[in-house]
Amino acid sequence: MKNSSGPKVLFIGGTGNISSAVSRLALARGVQLYHLNRGRRKTLIDGVQTIQADISDAAAAASALAGQSWDVVVNWIGFTEAEMERDIRLFAGKTKQYIFISSASVYQKPVTTPFINEATPLANPYWEYSRNKIASEERLLREYRQTGFPVTIVRPSLTYDTVIPMAIGGWTDYTIVERMKRGKPVLVHGDGTSLWTITHADDFAQGFVPLLAHQQALGHAFHITSDEVLTWNQIYEALGAAVGVEPKLVHISSEEICAIADKLGQGWMRGNLFGDKAWSCIFDNAKIKAFAPGFKATIPFAQGIRRTLAYFHADPARCKVNEDKNDFVHQALEVWNARKPL
Ligand SMILES: NC(=O)c1ccc[n+]([C@@H]2O[C@H](COP(=O)([O-])OP(=O)(O)OC[C@H]3O[C@@H](n4cnc5c(N)ncnc54)[C@H](OP(=O)(O)O)[C@@H]3O)[C@@H](O)[C@H]2O)c1
Repeated sequence: MKNSSGPKVLFIGGTGNISSAVSRLALARGVQLYHLNRGRRKTLIDGVQTIQADISDAAAAASALAGQSWDVVVNWIGFTEAEMERDIRLFAGKTKQYIFISSASVYQKPVTTPFINEATPLANPYWEYSRNKIASEERLLREYRQTGFPVTIVRPSLTYDTVIPMAIGGWTDYTIVERMKRGKPVLVHGDGTSLWTITHADDFAQGFVPLLAHQQALGHAFHITSDEVLTWNQIYEALGAAVGVEPKLVHISSEEICAIADKLGQGWMRGNLFGDKAWSCIFDNAKIKAFAPGFKATIPFAQGIRRTLAYFHADPARCKVNEDKNDFVHQALEVWNARKPL
């Protein structure tokens, strides 16, 4: 291991889509980095010390962590209030800072103004995932007020590196790219002109790492995003251009897509669209820039998505089509075509 003199930091998770990029930058900045995960991923990050445990088994995690104390613990995979209770028990008195990775989907929906800063109210009637993140944040902030539990909250918005960040049809598989390459239509919600921001994990890391052991960050919440604002049409077109095709975009209203998804047993789509990506959101990053001087995202989506595709193309096993997802798009288009007035 590299001789590091920086803070001693534990990532719960650490080999994921966002946390791998953050791990690499933290190590480069001299952080003594530990991961706690189950060791299932092949991601090799030189210089990390891995503690193998399943965090959902609190007793096993406590035993794996026995005798350790930390400058910072970051939980990358916390989703519920119950998990926050577990972490308060595991880490109170054992860490000087605890960073909870929340989500920018916690911000008020329906959106009342597209301009979002950390003072925007938190409410999301459409997405249980977001409500659970809100409840988790509130539990931690209560502990901060009552006992001084040293929490910092970080809310990523759509952030990518090893995933394909499309509203419909993307993520850890190659489905949407394969559809585009074969000239098959892809679904776009609304008329594709609502505004969205997609952030590369390497840019996110530039904002995040300065928060580690930051003396003034306790009790605060931050989002960290790119300042590049795109329409969804531009996002899908950039993906198409990166694989050398002009994608066939089929525009269907978010309400219609959700109604079709409900019928096809894909109820999560309502949270994904109305709880998040159907709204125009423009993130004000002034707060993270004040705490992380010099932070500025520098990877435009049109460039970053080429890096992501290179990652997929480096291993044919990553270029797999998810037949369920493909089926959903296919069936949704069939229902839509059947319902279209002549
Ligand atoms: N990407 C986005 O657009 C976005 C937007 C908003 C919020 N977020 C938030 O960002 C976080 C995801 O971060 P990420 O992308 O780095 O994570 P990720 O890609 O989901 O990676 C998960 C990590 O956790 C480990 N892990 C999974 N289950 C575990 C368990 N039971 N015990 C111990 N380790 C376990 C995995 O390793 P093993 O499998 O080897 O254990 C891996 O290191 C989530 O909290 C999500 O809500 C993401």
